[in-house]
Amino acid sequence: MSKLILSVFIATSIDGFIAREDASLDWLETANSSVPEGEDCGFHAFFSSVDILVMGRNTYEKVLSFGEWPYREKPVIVLSSRALEIPPDLRKMVEHSSETPEKLYKRLSEKGLNRLYIDGGDTIRRFLEAGLIHDLTITVIPVIIGKGLSLFGGLKRDVSLKHISSKIYDFGFIQSSFQVIQ
Ligand SMILES: NC(=O)c1ccc[n+]([C@@H]2O[C@H](COP(=O)([O-])OP(=O)(O)OC[C@H]3O[C@@H](n4cnc5c(N)ncnc54)[C@H](OP(=O)(O)O)[C@@H]3O)[C@@H](O)[C@H]2O)c1
Repeated sequence: MSKLILSVFIATSIDGFIAREDASLDWLETANSSVPEGEDCGFHAFFSSVDILVMGRNTYEKVLSFGEWPYREKPVIVLSSRALEIPPDLRKMVEHSSETPEKLYKRLSEKGLNRLYIDGGDTIRRFLEAGLIHDLTITVIPVIIGKGLSLFGGLKRDVSLKHISSKIYDFGFIQSSFQVIQ
């Protein structure tokens, strides 16, 4: 049985934020408007390669606020220690869990899955601290927003990375992939 891989695929501002303090993503939407039609910076290929998307409650609530669920039939696990409202039309795809990263990893490994997509700043940090993230693809958006929700701020231990590749897009996004050195 192959080992379950946990991956991150996320966009940050130059100063390392994934959203403003009020969770807004207007800076990212503005930047996305300069991206040529049909270009998704590798997201579709990445998304197709994952069995399950695991996200924190805050990311889930933000995505719900978009009005249209963007993940189609892909199974999604939302982590939260509290009760979670799941709209009836999403109940087939969305599951609520309050497992620790270690417990979730063990349960899903036993199912023989290949790859999970871990999303949400706090959630990514919890999985990194548990030593469970295998690789990160970070797309840096050429904008400085000064303050916001940090991707790595408050991480409780150093995480060493091996640089795998970087790509500079004509429209100014810089995407780098790293493998975590365990
Ligand atoms: N720029 C990008 O590409 C990008 C990507 C994703 C998200 N975002 C943005 O980032 C923001 C959300 O990130 P975030 O750092 O605030 O949080 P998050 O990781 O989405 O959610 C954190 C919450 O998830 C719950 N949680 C996480 N792990 C848990 C576990 N093992 N057990 C129980 N509960 C767990 C906790 O909620 P409870 O208090 O309910 O227990 C925790 O407060 C949103 O604004 C979103 O739009 C941006």
